[in-house]
Amino acid sequence: MSELNSLEQEILANIAKADSEAALEDVRVAALGKKGKISEMMKTLGKMTPEERKEMGPALNGLKGRVGDALGARKDVLKEEALKARLLSETLDVTLPTRAGSMFEGRVHPIAQVTQELTAIFADMGFAVAEGPDIETDFYNFTALNFPPDHPARLEHDTFFLPEKEDGSQMVLRTHTSPVQIRTMTSQEPPIRVICPGRTYRCDSDQTHTPMFHQVEGLVIEEGAHMGHLKWVLEEFCKAFFEVDNIKMRFRASHFPFTEPSMEVDIGCQRVGNELRIGEGDDWLEILGCGMVHPNVLRNCDLDPDKYTGFAWGMGIDRLAMLKYGMPDLRAFFNGDKRWLDHYGFAPLDIPGLVGGLSS
Ligand code: DAH
Repeated sequence: MSELNSLEQEILANIAKADSEAALEDVRVAALGKKGKISEMMKTLGKMTPEERKEMGPALNGLKGRVGDALGARKDVLKEEALKARLLSETLDVTLPTRAGSMFEGRVHPIAQVTQELTAIFADMGFAVAEGPDIETDFYNFTALNFPPDHPARLEHDTFFLPEKEDGSQMVLRTHTSPVQIRTMTSQEPPIRVICPGRTYRCDSDQTHTPMFHQVEGLVIEEGAHMGHLKWVLEEFCKAFFEVDNIKMRFRASHFPFTEPSMEVDIGCQRVGNELRIGEGDDWLEILGCGMVHPNVLRNCDLDPDKYTGFAWGMGIDRLAMLKYGMPDLRAFFNGDKRWLDHYGFAPLDIPGLVGGLSS
């Protein structure tokens, strides 16, 4: 019996000493495992005389029970301690300032930056942002915009067509953001003032063209809107966007099916060595197409051309970014080279606004 007592003292002491769940498991195996001390003693019961067994049986079972209880209790304590230690080591001081690293690591893509810049400028003039799907019907992309059926302009757009549907119709990847004009005019009442930035697609690829590119459309529809308003809006935009006080602009007659009259707009610039200075100078850069919304387009949207007039414009966001930030090759915008993004990208917390500055 005293042998059992000292064994119990020894095991309980080992349990108390175990300072981790793994150490405690070792103690359990040494006592109650298949070859543990208590298990070995249990095996001897069979060879005992009935009298001895009558005494040793309950004694061993009692020992086994007490050791089991002690192991369980110690396990709970160790679990609790481990959790406390983990919580302590994982505390996070939310009052600490942001680490410099995370601010300088990530970069905002120039297209996202320029989209935010122009959104801030037009929002300041009272324009809302409208959006439409990248996959369009022929109706929104062409027909409603007054492209006659089989007109060469449909081909000029180098359209990506989706496979023909059962009814013979074909969806297209939108070739411009102009379909969002139609979606806006058919879902909102004038006065309308929106810009529509987004992705556009044409089957074209060289230094200044990629199959996917970005445009921003502008649309104003209201009674009495005229070309003077259009010129003012575009001039204010160009001055704010290129961050110059004066900008020379030239409106050249052009043709788009959805505007009449139609114009292309050039801004003055000067090339000094490799640098391109925007605003003044004897050179011209084409930056956008625009015009007064064609009466047929208004009619297609159930608007009365005798009551409402409007103007619209469309320009390439990628081209604006290239001009403003001096990036020579459009293809580099989309090939995911981190070195390019580290160089031309913008700090994420530097959100462009008219008060804080657009690009500084
Ligand atoms: N959708 C034209 C294009 O992609 C750009 C454009 C020209 C849009 C004149 C307009 C506009 O809204 O009035 O080539």
